[in-house]
Amino acid sequence: MSNYVELFHRLDALLVKNRQFWQFMPFAERGYVWHQNLPFCQWLMTVDDSQLQLLSDDINRLTAALMPWIEDAQQLTQLTTQIQPLARTERSVPQGFDSGIPGRKWQQIIAFNEVLPLLGLPWLEWCAGKGYLGRVLAISHQQPVTSLEWQQQLCIDGEQAAKQLKLNINFVHADAFSADSDNAILANQHAVALHACGDLHVSLLQRVVANKGAAVSISPCCYHLIRQPHYQPISAVAKTSTLVLSKHDLRLPLQETVTAGNRVRQLRFVEISFRLGFDLLQRELNQTESYLSVPNVQKALLTQGFEAFCQWAASKKGIDLPNNIDFEMWQRQGEQRFAITERMELVRQLFRRPLEIWLALDRACFLEEQGYNVVIGSFCDKPITPRNLLIHAERSDI
Ligand SMILES: C[S@@+](CC[C@H](N)C(=O)[O-])C[C@H]1O[C@@H](n2cnc3c(N)ncnc32)[C@H](O)[C@@H]1O
Repeated sequence: MSNYVELFHRLDALLVKNRQFWQFMPFAERGYVWHQNLPFCQWLMTVDDSQLQLLSDDINRLTAALMPWIEDAQQLTQLTTQIQPLARTERSVPQGFDSGIPGRKWQQIIAFNEVLPLLGLPWLEWCAGKGYLGRVLAISHQQPVTSLEWQQQLCIDGEQAAKQLKLNINFVHADAFSADSDNAILANQHAVALHACGDLHVSLLQRVVANKGAAVSISPCCYHLIRQPHYQPISAVAKTSTLVLSKHDLRLPLQETVTAGNRVRQLRFVEISFRLGFDLLQRELNQTESYLSVPNVQKALLTQGFEAFCQWAASKKGIDLPNNIDFEMWQRQGEQRFAITERMELVRQLFRRPLEIWLALDRACFLEEQGYNVVIGSFCDKPITPRNLLIHAERSDI
């Protein structure tokens, strides 16, 4: 059994066993889902807002705080440390190559390039955008690059930049899911995808395998952007798991709490508590226990108060509001529900990285099963991008 298969089994067992702590939608619940565990709920209510922020920002602190309530907390966090930073080799890039590339994106690209092994193969850049990564690969490895992208304007802009920089980059304007895109995938090639969403990077892996591609390196993102209603594991080992992941579950790895300023925090509090308050009101009016989602709102409307928000939301949803509504009471209830939702989200944070690694391991195990040597690691620090996992695979016979 490979190390990755073993790690997958260990994470899988803990994720399955502790499902009740993460596999639910906090905003759809009226109160704590663990209401039968009263001491746990009481403890959560003692966590004040500043502690909540501290715990969300520091997984070790959160793990220690949850250990009395979740017996596997420490083991879960420890398992995630098996995925380590990848070794970087400094590769200089001529001045001016970063022109027009946003700062953090540039840092991601440099880091991505510096952890890739030198295989001396032509490159395929999957879902390339303007081909920022392709430019760096072309100059630092002196190998031709094919950049496949769906949006025509990005291809045009990318082509122009490559021409100016005198780089050997060929843009292919294509839908990565189309059968034609297969023509871009060759055996003698190193395919890369930086932050290609859900099914887009999965389909790359499947096609590389089918075309016996020599090497592939991806940093996955947006796991929830899939065409099926539920996650479809690709490895034989993940297919044996009893976990059934909804799109909501698949968003968990992306729910990094960012330390926001007071103003942003206050705006978030107003919007979410209004939504939760309106949801309680509509449950009462419609005699239902189902959450009703309301579309995006113009932020200016929030300054007009809860009643105006409810009038707007009701009109969007075709609900008649009677005249005798005690808006203040529903607003207060929304605020209380917000505090509970935040604390349930805090608990779910413990499972964020384990679930992300579970998903990365599904990809890694699939590639191992298909005869590739695989490495997973982080290619940069979290502040540069929280989506910092990179999966690299090479055919064992190259
Ligand atoms: C998150 S961006 C990443 C772009 C680039 N790799 C980067 O890191 O800057 C995802 C890219 O995938 C492209 N894309 C989305 N759907 C696609 C499809 N079906 N076929 C090809 N490209 C697609 C988008 O247009 C976008 O440029």
